[in-house]
Amino acid sequence: MIESRSARRVRRALVIGLCAAPCAAAAVTPPPLTAQTTRYDFPFDWPFRGRQRPAVTASRGMVVSTSGLASDVGAEILRRGGNAVDAAVATAFALAVVHPEAGNIGGGGFLIARLASGEIAALDFRERAPITATRDMFLDASGAVNKTSLTGHLAAGVPGSVAGLHAAWQRYGSLPWETILGPAIELAERGFLVDERFHRNLAQAKERLLQFPSTVEGFLTSGEPPAIGATFRQRDLAETLRLIAQQGPDAFYRGRIADLIVQEMRRGGGIIRHDDLARYEAKWRDPIVFDYRGYRVLSAPPPSSGGVTLAVILKILEGYDLARLGWHTPESIHLFVEAFRRAFADRNYYLGDPDYVDMPIAGLTSDAYAEELRTTISRNRASNSEDVSRVLPVGEGMHTTHLSVVDSAGNAVALSTTLNSFYGSGVVVAAAGFFLNNEMDDFSARPGAPNQYGLVQGEANAIEPGKRMLSAMTPSVVLDPAGRLFLVAGTPGGGTIITQMAQILTNVIDYRMDLRTAVDAPRFHHQLFPDEIRYERGGLDGLTIGALSSMGHRLRESEEYLGDVNAILILPDGTRLGAADERRGGEAIGA
Ligand code: GLY
Repeated sequence: MIESRSARRVRRALVIGLCAAPCAAAAVTPPPLTAQTTRYDFPFDWPFRGRQRPAVTASRGMVVSTSGLASDVGAEILRRGGNAVDAAVATAFALAVVHPEAGNIGGGGFLIARLASGEIAALDFRERAPITATRDMFLDASGAVNKTSLTGHLAAGVPGSVAGLHAAWQRYGSLPWETILGPAIELAERGFLVDERFHRNLAQAKERLLQFPSTVEGFLTSGEPPAIGATFRQRDLAETLRLIAQQGPDAFYRGRIADLIVQEMRRGGGIIRHDDLARYEAKWRDPIVFDYRGYRVLSAPPPSSGGVTLAVILKILEGYDLARLGWHTPESIHLFVEAFRRAFADRNYYLGDPDYVDMPIAGLTSDAYAEELRTTISRNRASNSEDVSRVLPVGEGMHTTHLSVVDSAGNAVALSTTLNSFYGSGVVVAAAGFFLNNEMDDFSARPGAPNQYGLVQGEANAIEPGKRMLSAMTPSVVLDPAGRLFLVAGTPGGGTIITQMAQILTNVIDYRMDLRTAVDAPRFHHQLFPDEIRYERGGLDGLTIGALSSMGHRLRESEEYLGDVNAILILPDGTRLGAADERRGGEAIGA
């Protein structure tokens, strides 16, 4: 891998960050937080300006997800005496039924738990490459990446969701497994009313989904999505979930569902075999833990890049007085962008599956390294991504889902799951009723070539048999300076997940926004390549865009809104505030 001169300079800084005595960052620590009340005026054209729903308030439990039906399932589990893990697992299974775009049993995810006892845990149930996967399996004869990493059977990694949800429940759950799955089975069997969003998303994906007869049979009656207001039932999925309820994950990885997956693979030229499924295991790992202005952040470890990259960003930003610079001023946006640029350079170069690659995580997340990186940032000139990158580029969808749960005891769960693209590979497993992911596209199909999110990744994330592909999921739990539970949050959005989370955290910690404002505030994104600031429609005013351009930044209005943050903030008196993102219309439900 060829490195530019300034990339070498920054890499030297990383070595310094690893070896030298820690040097204090010029951190600005805000006063202790008592309430989140500061109000901000959004740009005049921001569509969510002035029409936010208030945050939902509860004194005991709270569930926030992208679907009211699924949040209701989690809240009911809490009311029946279940804890936050029970509720999170039940909500995730419900999302597999009512939100097939991204909720799933054919994909994977990450979970961060922080228990009232202070115990913390991270669960990796990321998909794995099949054993017969090869480094170049998605390259055509000319060496270009073809479309089979995105659509069809080859795109699927070995699913981890069922193993992961079961492992979480097995370690921390309190209600019977069958009770946790019961509501999802009922939603699949008895059906639910199709709303505008469910219909629209299927209609938008129709051409892709029509390629697969089993998908058409399950989701496109006479080639069309079910009508708004119709009752949508999924009998095959209900039977699949019932088998998982009765037999546990063995039904999925060794039993009838494994047979159906392997048969589906044979029909469509896929490569997942029985031994891939039988060998799959979810892994407990240590969360990435770092401090930001006295707040402690617990986030997703590799093979997610989320926690490490978030740490690099926030550690850089900690050296600037963001509150004084102001929210969304050209000066502050510039600093965020420069931090994003550098953090993505590290992400793309260093990070991968910890079972396959060594990563300098302690160095990357150190104060000393952040200080070195800050010396490469001008206060008023944009840097050039080509100079910062360590992976030279040779040449996008945002469809994960996140749920947050807090129970009455103060146990907290942040859980993100994904199929990668909406409806994953587009393939429904015949007679089993669920979509398979297209997570293989999260590998560097060709190191240096952008994936669907435009992320240009390197050798550390090249395809290898059995390896987990790098993720950007950033489910996170934050403790306040007194060590109390403060925030539980996450979002979908490919690479934008990480930069969205940096903005959510700074919105509440630096800018003192109330949770509703923090979630609905317009967001922007930069991920090194393409070298541009992507901003939400109406999210930046003309003066700010002009000032950033004059600093040398390129800007592009995003065609879609960035993400779907589902968050819970806990006030010092224990009140739980829940906010689902207006961008997609989920729901917070108190219990
Ligand atoms: N598939 C999106 C992610 O894991 O980052």
